[in-house]
Amino acid sequence: MESPKSARPAGADGFSRRHFLSTTVASTMTLTLLDAPRAESAPAPATRSDARAPVSMTLRVNGRNHQLSLDARTSLLDALREHMGLTGTKKGCDHGQCGACTVLIDGRRTLSCLSFAAMIQDHEVTTIEGLSAPGGDLHPMQQAFIDHDAFQCGYCTPGQIMSAIACVNEGHAADAAQVREYMSGNLCRCAAYPNIVDAVLEAKTKMKGT
Ligand code: FES
Ligand code: FES
Repeated sequence: MESPKSARPAGADGFSRRHFLSTTVASTMTLTLLDAPRAESAPAPATRSDARAPVSMTLRVNGRNHQLSLDARTSLLDALREHMGLTGTKKGCDHGQCGACTVLIDGRRTLSCLSFAAMIQDHEVTTIEGLSAPGGDLHPMQQAFIDHDAFQCGYCTPGQIMSAIACVNEGHAADAAQVREYMSGNLCRCAAYPNIVDAVLEAKTKMKGT
């Protein structure tokens, strides 16, 4: 009588399905083992310490190039204050809520606390230190803030002035209401708002051609 094992159908070449599967599995395991050294030599994924490795960058600020080597996560605000000595730009909230850190990037007002320094390469940054003329004459907006007593403690003032210049250049200083609306991102704890509006409206008349 035929045993159950010999009754199992076999292929034309004499190999059973069980034999085929066992041979395939054994071959696959062999290839996997042979591949193991190759997998070990593959580049290791970036580690936490790699992410902190300094990044070389060139930042152009107030018409001058600055070569820096910084943590890639450094904000433009910290790069300006801690690594270039440009402390005119102020850190108020460091969360994009007060406007004290406002600078111009290619002429557009930008919150430097929310900008990575590494992303500003190939752009022109202007800070409060870069506004006065080479001879020392103040920018019309700076002079107007003085003339209208538009500050008390002065902490918000650099951000207010940078934002005000952009506000005028954007064409958003038609009247007091528009200035208040388009300057609303710059907070002043001393509440010098009425004088700030007066200063912006006066500077607007003198900025043409600056
Ligand atoms: S410090 Fe940047 S918005 Fe306040
Ligand atoms: S002048 Fe003091 S916060 Fe504006």
